Amino acid sequence: MISRRNFLSGLSTLPVTMYPVLAAAQTSSALTMPPLLDATKTGRFQLTAQRGTTAFVDAGTSETWGFNQSYLGPTLRIAAGKTTAAEVQNTLNEPISVHWHGLMVPGDADGGPHQTIAQGETWTPDLAITQPASTAWYHSHVHGSTARQVQNGLAGVLQIDDGRDEERGLPNTYGVDDLTLVLQDRRFDRRGRIDYDLSMPDQMMGFLGDTMVINGQVGRTAVVPRGIVRLRLVNGSNARIYPLSLSDGREMHLIATDNGYLDRPIVLTNLTIAPGERYEVLIDLTDGSDIALVSAPNPNQMMGGMMGIGGTETSFVVLPFSVDSTLPTAKDRMPNDIGGSRPQGDGSGIPERSVTLDMQMGMGMMMRRASNRFSINGDAFDMDTINFEIPRGTVERWKITADMMMHPFHVHGVSFQVLSQGGRSPTAQNTGWKDTVLVDGNAELLVRFDQDASNETPFMYHCHILEHEDGGMMGQFTVG
Ligand code: C2O
Ligand code: CU
Ligand code: CU
Repeated sequence: MISRRNFLSGLSTLPVTMYPVLAAAQTSSALTMPPLLDATKTGRFQLTAQRGTTAFVDAGTSETWGFNQSYLGPTLRIAAGKTTAAEVQNTLNEPISVHWHGLMVPGDADGGPHQTIAQGETWTPDLAITQPASTAWYHSHVHGSTARQVQNGLAGVLQIDDGRDEERGLPNTYGVDDLTLVLQDRRFDRRGRIDYDLSMPDQMMGFLGDTMVINGQVGRTAVVPRGIVRLRLVNGSNARIYPLSLSDGREMHLIATDNGYLDRPIVLTNLTIAPGERYEVLIDLTDGSDIALVSAPNPNQMMGGMMGIGGTETSFVVLPFSVDSTLPTAKDRMPNDIGGSRPQGDGSGIPERSVTLDMQMGMGMMMRRASNRFSINGDAFDMDTINFEIPRGTVERWKITADMMMHPFHVHGVSFQVLSQGGRSPTAQNTGWKDTVLVDGNAELLVRFDQDASNETPFMYHCHILEHEDGGMMGQFTVG
């Protein structure tokens, strides 16, 4: 059985720098990627939500859900500038939906909570891609069930591809030097089944697992060529925030944020990824040394730790790398111009909207129904209430407030600029185009609304800690 103390293969209680990476690399097997479903030529793809079993740990197998496989779904690659015909079939015995998180598509193709697919039914939206290349993802989004359905495996990665990675100088061989990494944390019971029993702190803080799972695999090592390696990081965890770094403190070159490439890489040693966010980084392994991607403990604490909830963990290894010099090296130098962009808007004189993320604490929370423990501007999410209507083409300045704890705030159908965080300029990692941002105290966003969303299929804005979202920390708006 995996105990809390043994977070990640029992080695994590050691200081990160003492982690015996080599030993792990020799004993663990190689991480694999989700299968690549390349729809750039065909212009269509098909997903089937299905039931399966997955052996995460030695103790036994777990019942899981996935798309076209037992857990998670394929990496969907769709073409920029084209329309892709999607087909999603649901063979599970409860309604699901498939939200394309990060796609700027109209509300009727967005896959939010109003677009459930009943058992045995098929949904066929057209995805007209007018936005730049980026790494997005897809996941179920049924109100009240999102956390459990994603925990069971209903998620996958989506790549908008424009065929220009070679020009940008980016590694682009799927699963070799271009790694897709879905970061999730889980707990397993003594028979190896996913354990999603929520304690009171779990309900308040969101679910935190004690075992690192990447692409549905536990305890694997990424075997990579000696050269520049690209990591497409997707935080598909229900609530865990990962303050990432490399085990020897070497630099990561950030090349893309949620909605696309930067103009030029940002060099950093620490990168924090919150639920719902995506970041692409390049790491330089030309020296052939085996290092690991490591994470500091989840930094989210109730009222900065005053409630005594959170903050008992140590750092841990997310993924060890093992350099295999027999693999072909496609890139051996960092690009310095990748030709993307950063938002350069000016928030002055733009109409402001306040969005306050609220939660009830302790017993106050427990006394409420599970569906309205959390709220935004005082109102828990209600499927039948449109919280506001925005004329298409409007630009707004959103002031987000999060007092009790940090909340990763996400808006559907848009890509925004982070104007400020805590009254200061945004951190370097938040200077690219974003659709999700971790709010600690407050943040200001500059948002332009260009996609239509009707009363029947409005866009959502919510906290991406899935237990908070299901608990009511969500609202909806129309654009038109
Ligand atoms: Cu990734 Cu509304 O969600
Ligand atoms: Cu979304
Ligand atoms: Cu939250």
